[in-house]
Amino acid sequence: MSKFVLSLVVFASIATLLVHSLKDYYWRDYDGETPDDAVLGGHDKNNKSIYIGQAYVQNEGLVVVQIDQDQKSVYAEMEGIQHLDTNIKILCGPPYLFYWMSSNITKLHTDLKEKQLVVGGHEDGAKRYFVGRIKCPDGVCIGKVLEQGGDGKSIFYGVDRNGEQLKADSYDVLVNDNSFVPNK
Ligand SMILES: *[C@@H]1O[C@H](CO)[C@@H](O)[C@H](O)[C@H]1NC(C)=O
Ligand SMILES: *[C@@H]1O[C@H](CO)[C@@H](O)[C@H](O)[C@H]1NC(C)=O
Repeated sequence: MSKFVLSLVVFASIATLLVHSLKDYYWRDYDGETPDDAVLGGHDKNNKSIYIGQAYVQNEGLVVVQIDQDQKSVYAEMEGIQHLDTNIKILCGPPYLFYWMSSNITKLHTDLKEKQLVVGGHEDGAKRYFVGRIKCPDGVCIGKVLEQGGDGKSIFYGVDRNGEQLKADSYDVLVNDNSFVPNK
């Protein structure tokens, strides 16, 4: 085999490997029923499960939202606070692919160079949203972290169960840990 062909083959194999390893999670349609393979986002103060959702807001984009167990509707922070019960998806995949990592307004920029963060959505015509989590009076709250907002800063935005906006400079982000190889 010529060097050229060989490097093509090597390149193709690496590319295939990357495509497979980087994205072993998926978003399922959510209608109030939590699928068995939903990724647990944490527990609230009553130890009820919280999941990671994604809602489509027309003309605005795809926003990361919190799904509370057995609740069909969600709050979304997208040009103000929206209460939605359609066009919602829930993050699913094997739990070993994910972990939470502490980050903040300035650190996220560096984290992005080293880690594969779970992309939770995007603002139309703008940057990506990552999946964030903070401690809040409800227990934990899931929300969105904009890749680079004003001044290149990455801030967490979410909504608590009273429909109040949450904003934080320090938060956890959800990492897609593609280095993990499960025992077969
Ligand atoms: C929370 O609930 C889970 C089961 O959903 C249980 O295993 C765990 O012990 C509970 N934790 C507390 C602190 O009650
Ligand atoms: C962000 O995290 C870094 C590294 O842990 C820390 O040095 C920095 O002070 C933090 N910044 C804020 C605003 O919390």
